[in-house]
Amino acid sequence: MTGHTIVITGANRGIGLELARLFGQRGDRVIALCRTASPALAQTGATVIEGVDVAAADGPESAAAELGDTRVDVLINNAGILSQESFEALGDAEALEQMRRQFEVNTLGPLRMTHALADQLGRGSKVALITSRMGSIADNDSGGSYGYRMSKAALNAGGRSLALDLAPRGIAVGIFHPGFVRTEMTGGNGHVEPAEAAAMLAERIDRLGPDSAGRFFHANGEELPW
Ligand SMILES: NC(=O)c1ccc[n+]([C@@H]2O[C@H](COP(=O)([O-])OP(=O)(O)OC[C@H]3O[C@@H](n4cnc5c(N)ncnc54)[C@H](OP(=O)(O)O)[C@@H]3O)[C@@H](O)[C@H]2O)c1
Repeated sequence: MTGHTIVITGANRGIGLELARLFGQRGDRVIALCRTASPALAQTGATVIEGVDVAAADGPESAAAELGDTRVDVLINNAGILSQESFEALGDAEALEQMRRQFEVNTLGPLRMTHALADQLGRGSKVALITSRMGSIADNDSGGSYGYRMSKAALNAGGRSLALDLAPRGIAVGIFHPGFVRTEMTGGNGHVEPAEAAAMLAERIDRLGPDSAGRFFHANGEELPW
């Protein structure tokens, strides 16, 4: 799939930046949404729209207004945040606020962006939700990380509904874990570089269709348990 219009949130760094680079290099038109641009993003040649905070009151709607009547072939909801809350922190007001913030960004952000861009998405369009394996309830064998796990589990639940609700419009919604990736989010720890994760995600997105929509996949193609 090349020559398409790809919209990516959180495209200024990390996995989003590498997705912008990859799709641009293969001949797609990339519209990179971000709060603040970066020199690396500018170098990709993407059209950059700054000031898009997916959790802000008018963030998704302002992005939609900027896009105007642009037909969006692929929307990649990549922007996300991680903070760590232990069991001990659950009585702490600051930790609870971080948990609410993760829900705003990680869960409501992708749902609101997808809804706001509904007029730009059409038959044959695709929506990718970049979730996390940490949102898998079945896979949780280490506890902790309450806000992140819950926000991504809730994103997965919302993603399944989106897939069902948008299928009649011919829009496929994919739910993808990028792998454990060396970005600022992980403090540079991980199994793969952002460019490798982006390449695997692009393959998942290319293959996304009615059969894989609404299911939870690792970027490497393995289906993950809810
Ligand atoms: N790295 C991993 O191992 C891993 C594993 C599983 C899932 N993920 C998911 O992959 C996605 C990308 O993560 P990453 O590793 O690339 O993280 P990252 O390097 O920390 O980048 C996060 C991106 O999200 C943006 N962002 C954060 N809050 C935002 C908001 N309110 N509005 C708009 N943009 C916002 C950041 O922009 P600013 O620069 O403005 O903050 C940045 O561009 C996230 O959804 C993450 O949960 C990552």
